[in-house]
Amino acid sequence: MKILAIDTSCDETAAAVTEGTTVLANVIWSQASLHAKFGGVMPSLAQRMHKERIDWVIAKAMKNAKWTMKNLGVIAVTQGPGLAIALEVGILKAKELAQKYKLPLIPVNHIEGHLLSPLANPSTSSLTSLHNYGGRKMKGVEWPALGLVVSGGHTELVLINKFGDYKILAKTQDDALGEALDKAARMLGLGYPGGAILEKMAKSGNPRAYPLPLPMARSEIQNAFSYSGLKTAMWRLVESQKDNLDKQIIYDLAACFQNRAFQHLERVINKTILNIAPYPPLNLRGGTIEGDISRVRDLLVGGGVAANMELRKRLRKMGKELGIRVHFPYSLKLVGDNAAMIGVAAALRNSCKSEEIDRKPRWSIEDVSV
Ligand code: KG4
Ligand code: ZN
Repeated sequence: MKILAIDTSCDETAAAVTEGTTVLANVIWSQASLHAKFGGVMPSLAQRMHKERIDWVIAKAMKNAKWTMKNLGVIAVTQGPGLAIALEVGILKAKELAQKYKLPLIPVNHIEGHLLSPLANPSTSSLTSLHNYGGRKMKGVEWPALGLVVSGGHTELVLINKFGDYKILAKTQDDALGEALDKAARMLGLGYPGGAILEKMAKSGNPRAYPLPLPMARSEIQNAFSYSGLKTAMWRLVESQKDNLDKQIIYDLAACFQNRAFQHLERVINKTILNIAPYPPLNLRGGTIEGDISRVRDLLVGGGVAANMELRKRLRKMGKELGIRVHFPYSLKLVGDNAAMIGVAAALRNSCKSEEIDRKPRWSIEDVSV
């Protein structure tokens, strides 16, 4: 299937060309630096920038893939979740192109895109990037599998029964992991978005230099992550150090916060996997999980925070201990917001083509149709 994919859900204007799950072009125009001075994404600015850039990213993706519109078989577009007025730009453009070139449209859930992003394949011409990321070629993934989405807006551990059949096992009850990292970075004056800068600072810091609390320490509930308590503790700590915030103290504070944030993530995932493995079906607040979850052997990880090498190391270690294969996208251009993951999800699903699509700013992964 020859796909042009579009994503304008937040502050990246993105277009990609994929042939099935093979990524031929993946163009991302990031607006992050424009939003930085506001310390977060300004929806109206995002919409304006998407409108300005959408034609350019699409043209560049087509050019990079050496395709014309006549080569296309389908247009995939992010329908939600995301900022309503930002989503609208991509959807309108997708509809316009679909009508003009008489192509079907596939609406895609953005979280599903992140979830399935580790299943993307590089084209032979981008084998160098495969090499750069450790030459780890995708191995087969067996269903049911676990999926973890860690981004600026979402922290969700999902049971993937099969494509299109998802059950959220745990999600954040307050801040998303990326959002918490961004806020901690901001407290330290490191700019926005701060996750990657915090990672860099943390490398030179001591994660045990200051006593930050571990969220829900030893009383983790299976189906929730929480970062707001850790954030408040960090704020108090930074306040207490504000008169002597030298470089080393910033490194240490970054390391302490990142360490606790990741420890919490690991503990909830660990607990969920250990609890589900021998005793299917699993009882959750929202009902009973169907499917033989004890057969889970794979964890797919996507979303901006999956760029973090310390997090990757920890998840791989956990996977080894639990007998779970952990998969990340083959390129860092597939972890943050991008349209290639939307093309990949459309290729794998290829089910719900539709002419009548409208934005769905709060579309849960559990509500996608099979
Ligand atoms: O997936 P994404 O690009 O956008 C959303 O859908 O939210 O994720 C953005 C998030 C931001 O919070 C950003 O700080 C975080 O991903 N992020 C990182 C790293 N790179 C991006 N967090 C930790 N370490 C990184 N290297
Ligand atoms: Zn995203």
